[in-house]
Amino acid sequence: MFLLLLLLVAVLPVSTEGGKILWGTEAKPHSRPYMAFINFYDSKSHLWRCGGFLVREDIVMTAAHCNGRNITVTLGAHDINKQENRQHILVVKSVPHKYFNRKTLVNDIMLLKLKHKARLNNVVQKIDLPRSQDWVKPGQVCTVAGWGKLANGSLSNTLQEVKLEVQKSQTCLKMSKDYNNSIQICVGNPKEKKATAGGDSGGPFVCHNVAQGIVNRKFNTIKPPRAFTRISSFLRWIQEKMKLLQQP
Ligand SMILES: *[C@@H]1O[C@H](CO)[C@@H](O)[C@H](O)[C@H]1NC(C)=O
Ligand SMILES: *[C@@H]1O[C@H](CO)[C@@H](O)[C@H](O)[C@H]1NC(C)=O
Ligand SMILES: *[C@@H]1O[C@H](CO)[C@@H](O)[C@H](O)[C@H]1NC(C)=O
Repeated sequence: MFLLLLLLVAVLPVSTEGGKILWGTEAKPHSRPYMAFINFYDSKSHLWRCGGFLVREDIVMTAAHCNGRNITVTLGAHDINKQENRQHILVVKSVPHKYFNRKTLVNDIMLLKLKHKARLNNVVQKIDLPRSQDWVKPGQVCTVAGWGKLANGSLSNTLQEVKLEVQKSQTCLKMSKDYNNSIQICVGNPKEKKATAGGDSGGPFVCHNVAQGIVNRKFNTIKPPRAFTRISSFLRWIQEKMKLLQQP
């Protein structure tokens, strides 16, 4: 029955009823307990949202371009307007990658130190990081989730998810010469509509329950592919910074 439903979803033509993420579906509530909803202000006091994911009780990983003032993290959320289960925690320190480049958007990775440890439970859990030998390959299909824009342009209140296929590096290089396959993953089949959208930035690209990528940049507002940060290329940086963020 479940398989049949999946097949139906896969073959149904894209409908016009709003669409989710861009043409994904609503996640089963709390099926991704590592997801963090992030709010922050830019220098003009404009409020932004990003995704992130819990990698240690006191650390959330996200994209460096999600850095700003008064960053807060909400864990245990599905519908961000509902209070139940939520842990709302202030960020006391943000550690973006030193070589994050706002123009080329490479090295788009950041750690957020929480004011206090999250309480782990059914709806709040950590996610594993890759090992250095993990290399996500073209053709692999993994999942990304977020509270970003839906196909109709509205930001989503509920967590949405979508399966996306890893592409050859040439697919992204064709879009921009700044794409670097040794530190990024090219994601999303250009022949499909499914993609991440504004507000999904910082969320994890999850393969076999391991966070392999971070939602990073688009080349085109609507059309895939997208470039994600390749986490397995940053393990030394992550280890070093996580040690520095150890509680005294
Ligand atoms: C977009 O779609 C969502 C979900 O289907 C719906 O809740 C929302 O009201 C829609 N927004 C607009 C502007 O139509
Ligand atoms: C950020 O936090 C500071 C200190 O708590 C507060 O004074 C300020 O109003 C906040 N800024 C915004 C944009 O919320
Ligand atoms: C890709 O990134 C790696 C690691 O930062 C760097 O050594 C290499 O020079 C970059 N390649 C290009 C073409 O920029």
